[in-house]
Amino acid sequence: MFVFSTYNQIQKHLKKNSGTLGLVPTMGSLHQGHLSLVQKALADNDHVIVSIFINPTQFNNTNDLKKYPQNIAKDQELLNSIDEKIIVYNPDAGDLYPNQVIAKSYDFGSLAFYMEGAFRPGHFNGVATVVEALLRKLKPNRAYFGQKDFQQLRVIQLLNSQLELGVEIIGCHTVRENDGLAMSSRNQMLNKEERKAATLIYKTLEKLSVYRDQRNISQMKAFFIKNIAKEKCLKLEYFFVANPNELIPVKKIKPNKNFWLYVSVYAGKTRLIDNTELKRL
Ligand code: PAF
Repeated sequence: MFVFSTYNQIQKHLKKNSGTLGLVPTMGSLHQGHLSLVQKALADNDHVIVSIFINPTQFNNTNDLKKYPQNIAKDQELLNSIDEKIIVYNPDAGDLYPNQVIAKSYDFGSLAFYMEGAFRPGHFNGVATVVEALLRKLKPNRAYFGQKDFQQLRVIQLLNSQLELGVEIIGCHTVRENDGLAMSSRNQMLNKEERKAATLIYKTLEKLSVYRDQRNISQMKAFFIKNIAKEKCLKLEYFFVANPNELIPVKKIKPNKNFWLYVSVYAGKTRLIDNTELKRL
């Protein structure tokens, strides 16, 4: 494995090694979800860079940033066990933000307006700033993102096309624990009781994910709230149904259209998000 903290070091390394390049941007605390992106990137490309950088500009809450888990030694061990050729880019803020650690301002229209966009103001400007910097500097052929952060994936696809960055943005399925909980670095912040309770999030989404006729979303939301209320530590932040193209929440599910269900739930103090596609029987 090659570990670099500056873009210049990576550039030198890549000059000696031609071929296609895959990028897996992460904030570290790697889990099987990240590793599945890395495996896909390794299968598709000659070289793979995994960036590990906790991006301050995407946190709208300083406490959340302070609490964000990190374990670079374990991350490197995991990556090395997959493939010794992996390039790890673990920069300081100065390497990605040469002037000021500040988010740029973008217009992603409805894609960044609802859900995470509404509940984490400024979040997508921060994500887009760092992803733009990574894509411009590293110039990968392909970049890999998980569908758990579905809205983030859609925003990055739009960023890539708006700025004509020419990268193939690849969305990969959410990887789940055996009990259905979507893998997330935040899961390690859950205590035993919260971790057990959190399984109810996907179990309830699964119950709602198949439908026969038109569905009334306020009834679905009421069902979700009632079901997760079985666990005292769970609290719903948002529940939306939207078409995956525009991500504009709707009030009714009309047949023959593609809709996904998106939720954010607090388990104790830890905020978890998840989503699922709705399927008509
Ligand atoms: O999904 C993440 O881990 C982050 O939002 C990303 C894409 C690495 C940008 O910091």
